[in-house]
Amino acid sequence: MEPGIERDFSAQMSYGDYLRLDLLLSAQQPQSDPPQHDELLFIVQHQTSELWLKLMVHELRSARSLLASDELSPALKRLARVKHVQHVLTDQWSVLATMTPSEYALIRPFLATSSGFQSAQYREVEFLLGNKNADMVKVFSHDPAARAELDGLLREPSLYDEFLAYLARHGYDVPPALLDRDWSQPYRLSPELVDTFAAVYAAPEEHWGVYETCEELVDLEDNFQEWRFRHLQVVQRTIGHKTGTGGSSGVDFLRRALDLTFFPELYEVRTRL
Ligand code: HEM
Repeated sequence: MEPGIERDFSAQMSYGDYLRLDLLLSAQQPQSDPPQHDELLFIVQHQTSELWLKLMVHELRSARSLLASDELSPALKRLARVKHVQHVLTDQWSVLATMTPSEYALIRPFLATSSGFQSAQYREVEFLLGNKNADMVKVFSHDPAARAELDGLLREPSLYDEFLAYLARHGYDVPPALLDRDWSQPYRLSPELVDTFAAVYAAPEEHWGVYETCEELVDLEDNFQEWRFRHLQVVQRTIGHKTGTGGSSGVDFLRRALDLTFFPELYEVRTRL
């Protein structure tokens, strides 16, 4: 070792101190009895997903407030990072896919009624992107902090709502009903807004910042759908058509989510070009 390398952390901060690894690495508490080898994989895959979701929520909140203050380039920088996180989350499905149905069957009884369906941070990301659903908040009655966080996001404008407000401030035609509405309600496609985006896509060089933002949003949605699809595939190869631990029909339930869209006009406009 080089002489300058720190060795004594009795009175100064170490790597483990800074990262609170005592907390982080003691949070894997397998429940299986007798212990099942694959449960650690199952826990780590979920916990790492939750850490990345935490970063996504942080970046999306920031992107949303940067848009609200007309700082388009810094907002796009945030979204670029979110897209990389989405790729990591999608790629990591291949790790969990190494768990066979027989291996999963050994740990399933110990999961009881817990399910990713109850991931508060996943719902936060969905609400931030604009997939609002008040019923989802009810799932968190047992957790007042998560419920309050989610309820707040439900009632606030989404990233897309802030983008539409940005467009209106910069002279683009945005129906007034989209700028002042009950944000807790699901977003509905506006044909007038498709016209506005059609004009942007017809002359990208005249609307470069807006055009680029539209494509960044489409990337986000595309990536989100890829995550959903990989989840569906892993679920199908692991439990087939059995019901989920959260009580849903399983694969059929998950497949319906593939029809959801966050930014309907940005997809609709493609048919027009
Ligand atoms: C073999 C592993 C897995 C299986 C068999 C599985 C199965 C399921 C099923 C059946 C559902 C529907 C709700 C239910 O009835 O439980 C669901 C929902 C969900 N799971 Fe998984 N899952 C797995 C891994 C994961 C992982 C690693 C994550 C990462 C966080 C995750 C996140 C979610 C989320 C967010 C939902 C809600 C999706 C929505 O409402 O659109 N799942 N999962």
